[in-house]
Amino acid sequence: MTDFLIAPSILSADFARLGDEVNAVLDAGADVVHFDVMDNHYVPNLTIGPMVCKALRKHGITAPIDVHLMVKPVDRLIGDFIEAGASWITFHPEASEHIDRSLQLIRDGGCKSGLVFNPATPLHYLDYVMDKVDIILLMSVNPGFGGQKFIPATLDKLREARQRIDASGYPIRLEVDGGVTVDNIGQIAAAGADTFVAGSAIFNTPDYVATLAQMRSQLSQ
Ligand code: DX5
Ligand code: ZN
Repeated sequence: MTDFLIAPSILSADFARLGDEVNAVLDAGADVVHFDVMDNHYVPNLTIGPMVCKALRKHGITAPIDVHLMVKPVDRLIGDFIEAGASWITFHPEASEHIDRSLQLIRDGGCKSGLVFNPATPLHYLDYVMDKVDIILLMSVNPGFGGQKFIPATLDKLREARQRIDASGYPIRLEVDGGVTVDNIGQIAAAGADTFVAGSAIFNTPDYVATLAQMRSQLSQ
């Protein structure tokens, strides 16, 4: 049976109570903390950096922290996030001058490495680095903001990415990010995803336990 992971995106959390919010979703059954880093350059929004990651570790958060870098350039922040306690680090290939080197930096720092594909970014960036990625993250919205609608063409792209992973024989996670809800998570899993980022669909609900249980039940059908 597939080992599905749910990764709440803290972009939609109440930042004034971030530590409590992260503990609440983890206590409610989340597996991974999805940490969106935006630089107002690669994407038109500005969020949080390594200091906040470090603060979550200091607050006692031990769950994997999945750092999604929407920044350009990427390499210096990779080093900063390794030091700050990141577990997974993913970046957008168009944002790195040297994709192979950036992936290597992440693994050398002891983290899991991944590439993120915007809705219109082709998967061919993977051609020569399948042995260097632990995670393939497909964006199902254009990056920059939470609360957008899932782009349906992502389902075919997920199927294509799943084929590439299965053909490679590597244990690569297939993650999806953007517009994931209780209503579409089952269909997204059926297309081949095993790791689900959801921000507004979790944090904008009053009862995280109930929402995560609903998502989980869609994955076991
Ligand atoms: C968008 C971010 C997402 C976002 C998802 O650029 O990468 O992680 O927070 O939010 P929802 O689940 O609300 O679409
Ligand atoms: Zn994200």
